[in-house]
Amino acid sequence: MGYHKVPCSVLFLFLFINVCFSYQCLADGVEANLTAQLLIDASEGLGRPIPDTLFGIFFEEINHAGAGGLWAELVSNRGFEAGGSNIPSNIDPWSIIGDESSLIVSTDRSSCFERNKVALRMEVLCDSEGTNICPSGGVGIYNPGFWGMNIEQGKSYKVVFYVRSTGAVNISVSFSGSNGLQTLASANIIASASDVSNWTKMEVLLEANATNKNSRLQLTTTKEGVIWFDQVSAMPLDTYKGHGFRNELIEMLLDIKPRFVRFPGGCFVEGEWLRNAFRWKESIGPWEERPGHFGDVWMYWTDDGLGYLEFLQLAEDLDALPIWVFNNGISHNDQVDTSSILPFVQEALDGIEFARGDPNSKWGAVRAAMGHPEPFDLRYVAIGNEDCGKKNYRGNYLKFYDAIRSVYPDIKIISNCDGSSHQLDHPADFYDFHIYTSANNLFSMSHQFDRTSRTGPKAFVSEYAVTGKDAGTGSLLAALAEAGFLIGLEKNSDVVQMASYAPLFVNSNDRRWNPDAIVFNSYQVYGTPSYWVQRFFRESSGATLLNATLQTDSPMPPMPLVASAITWQTSKDDQTYIRVKIFGSQIGPMVMV
Ligand SMILES: *[C@@H]1O[C@H](CO)[C@@H](O)[C@H](O)[C@H]1NC(C)=O
Ligand SMILES: *[C@@H]1O[C@H](CO)[C@@H](O)[C@H](O)[C@H]1NC(C)=O
Ligand SMILES: *[C@@H]1O[C@H](CO)[C@@H](O)[C@H](O)[C@H]1NC(C)=O
Ligand SMILES: *[C@@H]1O[C@H](CO)[C@@H](O)[C@H](O)[C@H]1NC(C)=O
Ligand SMILES: *[C@@H]1O[C@H](CO)[C@@H](O)[C@H](O)[C@H]1NC(C)=O
Repeated sequence: MGYHKVPCSVLFLFLFINVCFSYQCLADGVEANLTAQLLIDASEGLGRPIPDTLFGIFFEEINHAGAGGLWAELVSNRGFEAGGSNIPSNIDPWSIIGDESSLIVSTDRSSCFERNKVALRMEVLCDSEGTNICPSGGVGIYNPGFWGMNIEQGKSYKVVFYVRSTGAVNISVSFSGSNGLQTLASANIIASASDVSNWTKMEVLLEANATNKNSRLQLTTTKEGVIWFDQVSAMPLDTYKGHGFRNELIEMLLDIKPRFVRFPGGCFVEGEWLRNAFRWKESIGPWEERPGHFGDVWMYWTDDGLGYLEFLQLAEDLDALPIWVFNNGISHNDQVDTSSILPFVQEALDGIEFARGDPNSKWGAVRAAMGHPEPFDLRYVAIGNEDCGKKNYRGNYLKFYDAIRSVYPDIKIISNCDGSSHQLDHPADFYDFHIYTSANNLFSMSHQFDRTSRTGPKAFVSEYAVTGKDAGTGSLLAALAEAGFLIGLEKNSDVVQMASYAPLFVNSNDRRWNPDAIVFNSYQVYGTPSYWVQRFFRESSGATLLNATLQTDSPMPPMPLVASAITWQTSKDDQTYIRVKIFGSQIGPMVMV
């Protein structure tokens, strides 16, 4: 066994673990009690390093993961743009306080912001005196946020909005309960006619004197006149590092120590139609000026407060490497011809310059102006998402690949074409591998990469999950099968360099996809078993993989058990730890002896 060959001076350790389990043999329906032996060679110097990047996260704007999720903005449709650029338009989820006798609410295109022209116009017919007296509490509009705002006692919220009026204004800005009866915080904005004859930015800090997880933001008045509103934002002051990320949600991410963040999709990057795809240039600059867009795959509007810079910031705050997925001129239903793809290529090159260019470069300067002069550590980009089978993919891909290679030779480029079972017909540093399947299938795929070529591009398992009836909205069975699969990835981490579960987040009010790793609403959060499996693997990135071999006396292919062992050091206590993981499929009770 090589036992005696190891010099005595070095740390050495053999672990023998006997695993007894009952195994249902599918072929003959006989249940048998079997014993397997797990042999772990922990001799120093014999292990293989696991890539530092092995386990990370894939953040897609799906299920309101960002808007109404990780991004702490409380107001939904803050610029009144979600109903489209034609007017009159829908202002949902904004609603009106008062009736036709007291006010008329409409939209027009009078905003001071060029890229989002729609503004809300409020003609107040009642007053605090005269014949048409306003109802007590006033008339106006309210926004319930994303299925209720969680306003907490003692916490402060910054409310910003743009206003214009035909006369002097006295506007009450308040947080109230869902029926408007309980007031948690309020302030009056009072301005003379000349102060608000043109668009003016107003800013007020509200401190809540009570907690209500189903609150709304109200803008009301008891003064006759015409008032326009635009770009109404309410942000809690305590976001992670002041960067706008909701604390409880980012804590969940910090806790699994992701080594990379793939963003912002997924299908979100492609769009059903190109006109609705995520385009990074529309998502940068002052938040007020961002046009926002309708994500037509997951069917909701985003104001894009969580834009390209914020995604890069998220990766930096998580101490993870950003992996930017950009649109390659292909959506679910339309494609740009390779002969006219160059503007898209330029957009991608500009995006890389924005992320990591010198502050004196054209797009690096835009980043610096947004408050981040230091370049972000962008080392990976993906050319599209799940587009390999599309007609123009190869043609477009090569245009992107050549352009990026020549300007940024060090950037690692990810192809959408699966190279796990055959050689790619185009150059790439990595290839995407996506798998959504049953628990049994995924478990058996722990051997998926055993026979993959050891030369050529590396695998990026950028989306994996057990789905369907085995998983529901999250299950232990799904998580255990995923654990088996991840053990296979650890063992094959010479070819599989990165892996991420999908989707990461779901707002339980908008389940577009099941299951997900982290479930939340406006005030609660929990991890599904699939999340906790990821936490269980968080030490693996950068650890040392030991040779862990399962042996059994009885022949029973395929082996219903998988196991791995790693050692790692912590900077905290300088100790070396060992972790052994064993998972089985189609087996009964498992006992270690
Ligand atoms: C397997 O072991 C369990 C517990 O020791 C026992 O109850 C069961 O009868 C055994 N099954 C077989 C097929 O031997
Ligand atoms: C503003 O309106 C509130 C009622 O919402 C009223 O109590 C207050 O006196 C008004 N302030 C001024 C300066 O008109
Ligand atoms: C909380 O503040 C609101 C607005 O200032 C006020 O109307 C309300 O009475 C306060 N409630 C408590 C419990 O102090
Ligand atoms: C109103 O303000 C905008 C900038 O916000 C400015 O471009 C415009 O000239 C102003 N209009 C008037 C009438 O002052
Ligand atoms: C791992 O250990 C097994 C059992 O001791 C041995 O047969 C195998 O050669 C080892 N593999 C490597 C890569 O060292």
